[in-house]
Amino acid sequence: MTDHLPKENCYAPLCKYDDTWYPSYLIPGVVASKQLFKAEEGDIILASLPKSGTTWLKALTFSIVNRNRFKPQDSPLLTTQPHDLVLGLEFEHFRDGVPQNLDQPSRPRIFATHVSHASLSDSIKASNNCRIVYVCRNPLDNFMSYWHFFSSSKSQYIQGETIEELFVKYCKGVHPYCPFWSHNLEYWKASLEKPEKVLFLTYEDLKEDTVSQLKRLALFLGFPFTEEEEAQGLVEEISMVCSLGNLKSLEVNQNGVRDHGMPVSSYFRKGEVGDYINHLTPSMVETLNKLTHEKFAGSGLVF
Ligand code: A3P
Repeated sequence: MTDHLPKENCYAPLCKYDDTWYPSYLIPGVVASKQLFKAEEGDIILASLPKSGTTWLKALTFSIVNRNRFKPQDSPLLTTQPHDLVLGLEFEHFRDGVPQNLDQPSRPRIFATHVSHASLSDSIKASNNCRIVYVCRNPLDNFMSYWHFFSSSKSQYIQGETIEELFVKYCKGVHPYCPFWSHNLEYWKASLEKPEKVLFLTYEDLKEDTVSQLKRLALFLGFPFTEEEEAQGLVEEISMVCSLGNLKSLEVNQNGVRDHGMPVSSYFRKGEVGDYINHLTPSMVETLNKLTHEKFAGSGLVF
């Protein structure tokens, strides 16, 4: 299936499909989810580049829509990894091109994906009742978070490349699920065209005021918090349960491995805005900032 696609290496073998560099082993899942996924009324799609706040968004969304089933103190998040509560379309649901486990015990169904907007199923894009939430992150922190994630891994798929080599590739757009700019811009434009269908969040805004963003997310999803819930402090409680500090402290998120031997604990690191400053040289920062400024010029999207 990948024979005719352009190829590169960055952390792992990549193939270019829909102008996006996907990990080669995921191409069957990416293509099948695009061609076969049928959106149902009310479906929620959580989209992001890896290392942009996916885990957090899964925890927050799951908590919002299931809050009548589980009180914060009984949240499944306390005993189950966020990535097992909300599965990835191209990962778990269409792995190897085979649809599986698409039904879910409750409605709305929630799915996650890292694919570009161009690679989303037409059924998602055409549906009037299916909502997409995109979370993005400053590319400097996104790049560094990715690097830390794989540096901590003992995965056989990770190939030895220096941070400088990886940075050059990131700037060229050759990085898993990248180019960063087109991935962001496609969802950004969709959110401007159909604000009732696509919500564009940033990791930085979530960090700065989690409670306000949580309310915004709940409203968008059609599950607004009532005055009574707000008065009871439910928004703050959900924010606390989903916080990095809490999730990181839970046994379920400390042990075991996920895809290709990635330690579960590596999904929960520092979660700081601007951590790149401790790892990238001023010249690297300038290069990526300049590039981002150029690529986003005129779009209204600023980092
Ligand atoms: P850092 O590497 O900067 O610490 P993703 O979930 O898309 O894989 O992104 C991972 C990044 O989000 C990591 O950033 C991780 O620490 C941070 N993260 C994971 N869970 C979080 C949470 N509940 N709240 C805030 N940040 C979180």
